[in-house]
Parts: sequence; C-alpha cells; structure tokens
Amino acid sequence: MNTKIAASLLSADMLHLGDELERVKRAGIDWLHYDVMDGGFVPNITFGMPILKEIAKKTDLFLDVHLMIMNPRPYIHEFAISGANLITFHLESPISQNPFLTIKMIKEHHCQVGAALKPGTPAKCLLPFLDDLDVILVMTVEPGFSGQSYIHDMTPKIKEIRNMIQGRNIKIEVDGGIDNFTAIEAINAGADILVSGSYLFNQADMRKAVESIKKHTEK
Ligand code: DX5
Ligand code: ZN
Repeated sequence: MNTKIAASLLSADMLHLGDELERVKRAGIDWLHYDVMDGGFVPNITFGMPILKEIAKKTDLFLDVHLMIMNPRPYIHEFAISGANLITFHLESPISQNPFLTIKMIKEHHCQVGAALKPGTPAKCLLPFLDDLDVILVMTVEPGFSGQSYIHDMTPKIKEIRNMIQGRNIKIEVDGGIDNFTAIEAINAGADILVSGSYLFNQADMRKAVESIKKHTEK
C-alpha cells in the first residue's frame, strides 16, 4: 500500500505562498490540495483560477483541485488550463444535476476526475458513476473550513466505499481533520490519499510528520 499525502493550501501562509510550496516539496508531500469555495455551496470563499495558475508555474507537484461550488461546469476549462491535474466536484452541487456531463467535461480536458461526498451523503449515491471516476473524495468534516475535527462516523463509510469499488482503479481520498491519529484510522479503513491542512502546516518539522504518517502505510 502506498498512501499519498495531499497538503491543503487553505492552511498555508498566504503571504509566503512560494516558501510554503518549497516547504511542502521538501517535506515529501505528494499532492497539493486546492480548495475552491464560492460562498454559496459552502459558507466560505477562498481562491480561484489565477492563483492556481501562479502555483502551477512554481511547482511540479500534482495539483488536486477540490471544487466546493454550486455550479462547477463553467469553471472546468479555466481550472484545467490553469494547471489542475485532478478536478473533483461535489455530487451535491445543485447545478451539477447531471454529473455524467461534468465527468465527461473534466475528462475532455485531460484531467483526472473525482467525485466528492459531504458527510451526510450516502455512499450509494456513487454507484452510477463508479466506472467513470479516478478518485472518490470522502469528506470527514463539513466542507467549508480547515481546522475542524475528524468525524469518526465517516470511517465505516470509507470501508463501505472500499468494498463498493471492488477491482476498479479508483483512489479513495479522505479530507478533513487528518492528523497523525486519524490518518491511521482512515488508512486502515481503506484510504489511498489523505488530505491534511492545519495539522501539517502547524508542524515545526513537516517532513517528520509526513514520515510518521507514511510509516504506517509501508507495512
Ligand atoms: C474543508 C476542505 C479541506 C480542509 C482540510 O472544506 O475541503 O481540504 O482544508 O483542512 P484540515 O486538515 O485542517 O481539516
Ligand atoms: Zn478539500
């Protein structure tokens, strides 16, 4: 098992983003997780395409874009040309009523495609899309803010999704409240990619924190 760690830039020092990118790279982080919020789908507003474009010029890390927005489709082209490698949208996004179209559009832009579920959305909602997804993102906090506590009731949902995908080549990404303890819980339940924001960026030695999480995946 080779778990990847995605650093959520929401918790980075925004006035020193270039330095933070270096720090993440030195720490052995695999992916950069970029949380896009529109103040409608979630009660917070973050960043959009222009900043992603600048980040893409500065780093060779895999760019994992998590869209927490009402209407994802009109923005897919811009995020793709700004450097996104993976674009994940929420199945609950109200104007994404035809997720097949959203999936198709993301693939046409040569990005990997992910579907995200809020904590209250049952795993079975994924069933129609399983043959088309690269990533399933399981939210383990209510989307909108970093620094919240992992909802332990989501651990059985990760296991359920792990069983549901069977032999398909879909990665399970877990997002929200990941620290050195909850990381192990999520890994044991079947997570392939762990998103971590506040825990990682608060570390004096980010590399050490990454190594200690990864140790558990190399059994
Ligand atoms: C929350 C975001 C998460 C968040 C994770 O809506 O999707 O990616 O930044 O932050 P932590 O790890 O602090 O919960
Ligand atoms: Zn996220």
